[in-house]
Amino acid sequence: MSSRKIILAIDGPAGAGKSTIARRLAQRLGFLYIDTGAMYRAIALWAVRTNTDLADSHRLEQLSLAAVLDLAQDGSVLLNGEDITALIRTQQMSDAASRVSAVPAVRRALVQKQREMGARQSVVMEGRDIGTNVFPDADIKIYLDASLEVRAARRLHDLEAKGDHRSLDHVVREIRERDQRDSTRGEAPLRQAIDAFLLDTSRMTIEQVEEAILKIYRDRTSNGKELGR
Ligand code: DC
Repeated sequence: MSSRKIILAIDGPAGAGKSTIARRLAQRLGFLYIDTGAMYRAIALWAVRTNTDLADSHRLEQLSLAAVLDLAQDGSVLLNGEDITALIRTQQMSDAASRVSAVPAVRRALVQKQREMGARQSVVMEGRDIGTNVFPDADIKIYLDASLEVRAARRLHDLEAKGDHRSLDHVVREIRERDQRDSTRGEAPLRQAIDAFLLDTSRMTIEQVEEAILKIYRDRTSNGKELGR
């Protein structure tokens, strides 16, 4: 096994299936799973709790630099030692995270933490800018997409499982707004890296997506050693 760390980057819009797939792949490959969206959500939660104006970039930067974030492999997220896993998965935090993630100083602070995580071990890292900005030299880049309707239906399903009942229309609007903000911001907007593999998951099962990415991974590596570079 090569000692070189492998970076598998997965980007895409909300509801494309990134978290589910990234977690499964990390398990299959024995890599660390890093959900970068959870990091922006954690800063958003801290900001809301401290009544920080989501446009106050100086204060948001201070929070981002001070935050001690732990992403456990079971998906739990700790902020300064407190388990905030359930608290960051609300509609309010999706919206607040999208807002704080548009602040350049917040991105700088979190991207630095993400690069440190990827330098230590092989990772499956998912987000919006992993292949374009955090690790532009990532070994494998995947861009997961799906139609707006499919993504909204998935989000609705997740929210309902948590007892949060919304209409499909409401969720479609929320996702559309978030996509718009995430892909038009000045700093590291959501976009497909030029060398990323595009997978439209609208009509694929989780297993099919997982197998498709594992195939790409195997084609590009041999016993953990990269070919073709
Ligand atoms: O993936 P998610 O829904 O948990 O992400 C929450 C927000 O964080 C999303 O609206 C955009 C932002 N984000 C980002 O800007 N860059 C990342 N690498 C990950 C998430």
